[in-house]
Amino acid sequence: MSLDHEPMSLIQETDYGTPRAKSDKTVTLTIDGFPVTVAEGTSIMRAAIEAGIKVPKLCATDSVEAFGSCRLCLVEIQGRPGTPASCTTPVAEGLVVSTQTDRLKKLRRGVMELYISDHPLDCLTCAANGDCELQDMAGAVGLREVRYGYDGANHLGQAKDESNPYFTFDPSKCIVCSRCVRACEEVQGTFALTIEKRGFASKVSPGMGESFLDSECVSCGACVQACPTATLSEKSVIEIGTPEHSVVTTCAYCGVGCSFKAEMRGDELVRMVPYKDGKANRGHSCVKGRFAWGYATHKERILKPMIRARITDPWREVGWDEAIAHTASEFKRIQAKYGRGSIGGITSSRCTNEETYLVQKLVRAGFGNNNVDTCARVCHSPTGYGLKTTFGTSAGTQDFDSVEQADVIMIVGANPTDGHPVFASRMKKRLRQGAKLIVVDPRRTDIVRTPHVEAQVHLPLLPGTNVAVMTALAHVIVTEGLVNEAFVRANCELDDFAEWAAFVSEPQNSPEAVEPFTGVPAADVRVAARLYATGGNAAIYYGLGVTEHSQGTTTVMAIANLAMATGNIGRPGVGVNPLRGQNNVQGACDMGSFPHEFSGYRHVSDAATRQAFEALWGVPLESEPGLRIPNMLDAAVAGTFKGLYVQGEDIAQSDPDTQHVVAGLEAMECVVVQDLFLNETANFAHVFLPGSTFLEKDGTFTNAERRINRVRKVMAPRNGLADWEITVRLSEALGYPMPYKHPSEIMDEIARMTPTFKGVSYAKLDELGSVQWPCNDKAPEGTPVMHIGGFVRGKGKFMITEYVPTDERTGPRYPLLLTTGRILSQYNVGAQTRRTANVTWHREDVLEIHPHDAEQRGIRDGDLVKLASRVGATSLRAVVTDRVAPGVVYTTFHHPVTQANVVTTEFSDWATNCPEYKVTAVQVTPSNGPTEWQDSYEEHARRSRRIDIHAEAAR
Ligand code: SF4
Ligand code: SF4
Ligand code: SF4
Ligand code: FES
Repeated sequence: MSLDHEPMSLIQETDYGTPRAKSDKTVTLTIDGFPVTVAEGTSIMRAAIEAGIKVPKLCATDSVEAFGSCRLCLVEIQGRPGTPASCTTPVAEGLVVSTQTDRLKKLRRGVMELYISDHPLDCLTCAANGDCELQDMAGAVGLREVRYGYDGANHLGQAKDESNPYFTFDPSKCIVCSRCVRACEEVQGTFALTIEKRGFASKVSPGMGESFLDSECVSCGACVQACPTATLSEKSVIEIGTPEHSVVTTCAYCGVGCSFKAEMRGDELVRMVPYKDGKANRGHSCVKGRFAWGYATHKERILKPMIRARITDPWREVGWDEAIAHTASEFKRIQAKYGRGSIGGITSSRCTNEETYLVQKLVRAGFGNNNVDTCARVCHSPTGYGLKTTFGTSAGTQDFDSVEQADVIMIVGANPTDGHPVFASRMKKRLRQGAKLIVVDPRRTDIVRTPHVEAQVHLPLLPGTNVAVMTALAHVIVTEGLVNEAFVRANCELDDFAEWAAFVSEPQNSPEAVEPFTGVPAADVRVAARLYATGGNAAIYYGLGVTEHSQGTTTVMAIANLAMATGNIGRPGVGVNPLRGQNNVQGACDMGSFPHEFSGYRHVSDAATRQAFEALWGVPLESEPGLRIPNMLDAAVAGTFKGLYVQGEDIAQSDPDTQHVVAGLEAMECVVVQDLFLNETANFAHVFLPGSTFLEKDGTFTNAERRINRVRKVMAPRNGLADWEITVRLSEALGYPMPYKHPSEIMDEIARMTPTFKGVSYAKLDELGSVQWPCNDKAPEGTPVMHIGGFVRGKGKFMITEYVPTDERTGPRYPLLLTTGRILSQYNVGAQTRRTANVTWHREDVLEIHPHDAEQRGIRDGDLVKLASRVGATSLRAVVTDRVAPGVVYTTFHHPVTQANVVTTEFSDWATNCPEYKVTAVQVTPSNGPTEWQDSYEEHARRSRRIDIHAEAAR
């Protein structure tokens, strides 16, 4: 294996026993003769461990509050009677504490003896041997013998629960310390575990005595992480053995950007352990990042380049040299025949910043045009446009920590417990502490009511009416005198504000006036507006339910207007926060993946920026924006666009109106797909370049809070090259050399050319762990919260948000509205998660339909139904549920066999072309099999995936 750095040892993080105290005041005490100064409220245990003094412990761990049940951490305090537990006793000024006395040693040995007398003595063959706190504590307290036999009552014969695909539960090893139960409650917020019964009979129970799989458990792994014994163990550790070295890296799934320790044994990944110092996740994880990494070695992964003349031919495996030379020659041929603008590229929001930057550089400097776009086109492009216009920066305003200071949380068109689970856990924690919740969503998402959390207001608006509801909220704020005038006067363009205030005050924008078409009771809108404007720090979090509309940009602006009008911007606890979908969608946008912008959101027509790039890259650059993805496809159908380089995107599955996408791809002469698997787009490709996983390369991802996190290589690329190396080789073959030797050099160029990244380097990221852009001379350690003391654009700009109903209307033929979303266990097009045990939870996409609509159509729960719109039809199973309102149906888009996008339409956001995935007029009818489209697509896909493994040998 070749790594760019020395293999590391196993990173061991200190467990301080109890959480960090937040007080600014300090107290000084003496522990074992040493003076120790800590924050007020710190436990004696934590104070000792911070000072390097080890205190034996079992039931305490620093991810959850102290519980005080094991009695192992006892200490003596001068002048106080007894032996208090150090985990539950806070420090006080002047205390004199002893952690090691003969009396304590004797007591601890007695405690440990009792534990061990009811524990299997199979340490040598136990999967946790060497990684078990019980074993460590037996050694730490000097336990050498156990006087009690195993003949009496014990817990040793209990059956294992193997139901979860990723971890086992072996109750015979459980010491009932309750760390798992508390982790599930406090860290994850699911409350799936309880301690059942009392005394000797007490035991950990998922749900009401169910198996883990049948319980409410969402497989986040927090309990496994917290367990001090082998009771809860990863199956991968049992199969492979304990890890021996680890590297800190970043999850490659969603925009939360969780940090993990990739723990390895040799070159095999044993487990992913959430990293406590990770500033986005603070030691927590979800089922995807924690467990769903097996796709990296899945047998369907393609490891050799392949080419073919026609998309109906079988693939032919070739070497890298031939694949690159063939691609370059095809692109050159096409440009010679059809012109420089006849080819383009799509960058990947799954790849690193460095890789994305290189693809857009290849297009601009190597292809000589601006035909580069990214999947943000189909998700958060309205965020970029809307927030840049109003605030001056195309990104969210806060860090994730900010939610801990929010008093009111408004979630608009987002489903964080499924889409951004680790951040949702932090949000739920704040809500359990008393923050108020407003949910604006057509569906009753899980967060509307979850254990110990209930939304004060849920506004179940009809899909497509976001702008009307947001403007109605503004109407209440303005007409009821709830505007923060001092903030507006000091920070915003006053003429724009006055015009906006007059507009939102118009009677047609009142909650009562919009109720008939939004479906939201006016009284609830009024309650929500008052709560948002007067409830203290109010923060808005929003998702694709805002952006993927014909008025996506308008809704983003309406949200920004609300934050400015109430002064909820520019400090912790407030702000406007897009929950960005893919791991590096923020980064892909930052890196200049759009046809009109260089890195740092600078327009290609800006002469100074363009000249700076021309000087560095040594080629003239186009000053006119290039083609967006939908324009590329339109131009392909029209016969003027003939070649496409797609890195790590699956536009045939993820983009709307599948039949149009397919027509565009079929019309091209050279489609090059660079990916891990033969995805749906590859069915229409002529060249397949095998991609590398996040485990196989160095680089950075930028998460939803603008945090730049390091991605570190833990194993050599199984396909031979990291994705950035493939782009470098292709560029060279096209006659534009890019002589980078390591991704750090690409980041150095990004920093040199991008004002918001000026202070970013791998050295700084290694030193600080991560930084949030802007990171430059003014903010050398990054910017957690933006717009403090004034907006980036100078004065905040209120925008008029006229509600224009979408052209997509229901009618007699298509009377229902379809909206789409995600599910926790699957990720986007599912290429990775479908190739893991996550399919246990979601084997197929289903259609949620309200009981009333189902009954009218004679549809029962579980029936196969046909979902049809004016552009296409597909069949899938129905789930009858009142989570959706009457008139609304909902599905996910994770499985190619369903291809939900066969029914989504060509309508898109007026400003950015972001497709209107969230509103499609449909009809649902009983069905008895796949639709014609599904059958013909499946037949094409089956033929297209053939690989002629003998072709290379025969040549
Ligand atoms: S895996 Fe997560 S959700 Fe499941 S029981 Fe453990 S902590 Fe709770
Ligand atoms: S399963 Fe582990 S964490 Fe939970 S009570 Fe048992 S030993 Fe403690
Ligand atoms: S929340 Fe997102 S980044 Fe974190 S582990 Fe889950 S998928 Fe990965
Ligand atoms: S660690 Fe303090 S009582 Fe268990």
